[in-house]
Amino acid sequence: MVEQTMQQVQLRRLGNSDLMLSPLGLGCWQFSKGSGMIGKFWPVLSDDVIRDIVRTSLAGGINWFDTAEIYGGGKSEEVLAEALLALGDEAKDAYVATKWWPMMRTAGSITRTIDERLRRLKGWPIALHQVHQPFSFSSAAAEMKEMAGLVKQGKIRHIGVSNFSAKRMREADRALREHGLRLASNQVKYSLLDRRVERNGIMETAKELGVAIIAYSPLEQGILSGKFHADPALVAGIGGMRKLSGDFKPAALERTRPLIARLQELAGKYDASPSQVALNWLIHANGETVFAIPGASKPHHAKENVRAMTFAISRDEQRELSELADRCGAR
Ligand SMILES: NC(=O)c1ccc[n+]([C@@H]2O[C@H](COP(=O)([O-])OP(=O)(O)OC[C@H]3O[C@@H](n4cnc5c(N)ncnc54)[C@H](OP(=O)(O)O)[C@@H]3O)[C@@H](O)[C@H]2O)c1
Repeated sequence: MVEQTMQQVQLRRLGNSDLMLSPLGLGCWQFSKGSGMIGKFWPVLSDDVIRDIVRTSLAGGINWFDTAEIYGGGKSEEVLAEALLALGDEAKDAYVATKWWPMMRTAGSITRTIDERLRRLKGWPIALHQVHQPFSFSSAAAEMKEMAGLVKQGKIRHIGVSNFSAKRMREADRALREHGLRLASNQVKYSLLDRRVERNGIMETAKELGVAIIAYSPLEQGILSGKFHADPALVAGIGGMRKLSGDFKPAALERTRPLIARLQELAGKYDASPSQVALNWLIHANGETVFAIPGASKPHHAKENVRAMTFAISRDEQRELSELADRCGAR
């Protein structure tokens, strides 16, 4: 079947690691099954839908998946592993990145919880283990010492962080060098409508250190698809905490409408969709530094999003979109 054939995609090295990854990975927060506070953010997806999303992603050339302990308290890791295992050979080369949740914990818990991560992942190797947030009771150096120990024991392959400032990212990389290792990545919020990493030193520091940026919420949780602009009534259908984002308010949708209109025009030029153009901007506007991990609630999202890896908008178009996003009130 044509759809099952793996799309050939140009892989790129994840920062200071030896991992060759597709520019897009699949964000798996959506696989939380409604468990836990953070897991309730998204509707519950059935196992069949999850498997379909994973299969569609792999077929489209995605070769890695981003999950976390906090996504349903291990549920997302578990159902992702089940989907990968069920896909057999189709998934055999897939990489999994997960994350340790630091709240009310010290660095020692990174080591204490690793076997639980591997259990949830049903033994699927952890290619990248990330510190999810910068707010544990320990220093970055203490966290990196634990992570380095896990690399030496062969329990994880590479180390990343998430939501780290430029300063803390530098501390983490410095600490890892003392253990003969390097920091691979910093996962941060980054999209056309949220460009703070370009101004707060994170992007600059990442480029200087050779650390990859993994952009989360790359579609601003669906806003950049343009569907809420086309049909604002859809906003009423989204639930819980997601709805609290100011971006869904009528005035905000009006403010960002010119950006969506331009994404739509470019989509026409590249036989693409606004989501694909927005993701394309992310993975090309900073050389090969930035990877993006759009989440999918439906298989057709995954099918659409992976196509962002099959073309490249021009440098002028990248610049134009950046400037237009600024004029539309990008953060
Ligand atoms: N490290 C961190 O602190 C952190 C924080 C947040 C997220 N993340 C990671 O980043 C991943 C992605 O971030 P995110 O889920 O917040 O935001 P996102 O990827 O910008 O948005 C995903 C949502 O947008 C909608 N969507 C996706 N593709 C679409 C398309 N082609 N057309 C129309 N709608 C589409 C879907 O929601 P609907 O169908 O409901 O509209 C989907 O669930 C997460 O899964 C997670 O792995 C990490």
